[in-house]
Amino acid sequence: MVKLSYAVSSPRRAKADAVAFFVAQDKGEFNSQMQRLRKIFGRRLDTIIGLDEFKGKAGEVCSFLTEKKLAAPRCFLVGLGETKKHTLETYRRAAAAAAKKAQALNGKTLVIALPESGSEGFTDANVAKAAAEGAALSLYRYDKYFTEDPRKNKKLREVILTQERGEHAGAIKSALNEARILCEATCLARDLENAPGNELYPETLADAARASAGKYGYRAAIWDKKKIEQMKFGGLLAVNSGSDRPPRFIILEHNAGRKDMETIVFVGKGITFDAGGISIKPASGMSEMKMDMSGSAAVIGALEAASRLKLPFHVVGLIASTENLLGGSAMRPGDIITHYGGKTSEVDNTDAEGRLVLADALGYASTFNPKVVIDLATLTGACVVALGSHATGMMGNDEEVMAVLKAAGETTFERVWPLPLYEEYENQIKSDVADVKNVGGRWAGAITAGLFLKKFIGEYRWVHLDIAGTAILEESLPYAHKGGSGVGVRLLIEFLKNWKS
Ligand code: BES
Ligand code: MN
Ligand code: ZN
Repeated sequence: MVKLSYAVSSPRRAKADAVAFFVAQDKGEFNSQMQRLRKIFGRRLDTIIGLDEFKGKAGEVCSFLTEKKLAAPRCFLVGLGETKKHTLETYRRAAAAAAKKAQALNGKTLVIALPESGSEGFTDANVAKAAAEGAALSLYRYDKYFTEDPRKNKKLREVILTQERGEHAGAIKSALNEARILCEATCLARDLENAPGNELYPETLADAARASAGKYGYRAAIWDKKKIEQMKFGGLLAVNSGSDRPPRFIILEHNAGRKDMETIVFVGKGITFDAGGISIKPASGMSEMKMDMSGSAAVIGALEAASRLKLPFHVVGLIASTENLLGGSAMRPGDIITHYGGKTSEVDNTDAEGRLVLADALGYASTFNPKVVIDLATLTGACVVALGSHATGMMGNDEEVMAVLKAAGETTFERVWPLPLYEEYENQIKSDVADVKNVGGRWAGAITAGLFLKKFIGEYRWVHLDIAGTAILEESLPYAHKGGSGVGVRLLIEFLKNWKS
């Protein structure tokens, strides 16, 4: 990942390949920023912005040569749009635009001149954090398998955020440290998502979780198939029965044993490849299903970040991992499964496998006596139909937890949107032969999946996040290249930072 740093210094003297200045679109703001920049570049600046028709609109970048007016050879003016529309996301995107431009022009180091004081109701620290996130996340690519890296020698190495006065240097430095941890954890999640199914399967997913835990000092326990059988995780075993690779159940803990702290459990769907099983998926687009473990990637990233940030909770991560394939002993439509805890489900469609493995994990979560359980899963295509890639579907039994998640979603721009778990929908998942059926027909598929999960939760506050559309990107977003987005890591950490029981 690109190096992130902060310096109190004048942009004139910065020894970088480019210096970026943010420019708001409103007349007053625009003109006063131009006034300041004219002191550096003189009247030539007016010619440049005139030729480029640079207006300070969101997304605009005007790049020009500094002709020795700065120590850096290039300058970028980056539009922020209208001040009244500014949010932290504005700064993420502006910094992303600057970082991408710098890298495209072969730059190695970029200075971003931050606004001098948080006049818009944002603290300097929050603006710096947002800019750092946008810059760092925008440059991520999954490139480990290129034998000849197309961007070799063409990578931005460092982004230096600067201010001339630096009144809040201490707060900004700690915000940058937080941004670095969050971005590294998000990029770890992205790496896990993008890794192909022949590299990343339950055993290697568990290895990755163990490696992160070892590196950052949190606890990892990994159950093999024998232990999973002893624990009677019938859903995980049924889905696994079509695969030659054994399943894993992964238990991660930050602040393990701290009885003085509230326990919060994150549960992740860890299907390392979802072919659909006997109810096989169509061939087109099936390769995306290597990312069907995105929920577990978010959980690993969140545990890593929670541990590095020393957040004052006992945070537990539970991951149920298997492939969903169609070997000779695969589960069949019509099979009846007995889950952890004893409840049964009828498998009407083997492609609705995520809820089967989550049922065991949600039941087992009770053994930690948690106050709150949040599960993350690429659970339904129906959620993608409803919300596309710009919002995660949210369902649950607790308005307060959902409100804190909603606010965390707005802050991080990993937005969540509620779907109702009305009991009337339950008719759709009634089974003639078992406690519940694993599919609920054509309508409201994201909700019937949520209601299925609800049958297996314990006595705790629970929220289900369907990240099918937000985790697997078919098109690039301003600072997330297409592929795995790493969604959930920043959301869960922001949730923890704001959660007070
Ligand atoms: N992993 C898929 C859901 C999914 C689909 C995620 C598209 C991301 C993009 C899940 O296991 C699945 O196959 N769900 C089925 C459920 C259906 C059989 C009730 C679906 O959505 O089609
Ligand atoms: Mn499936
Ligand atoms: Zn799936």
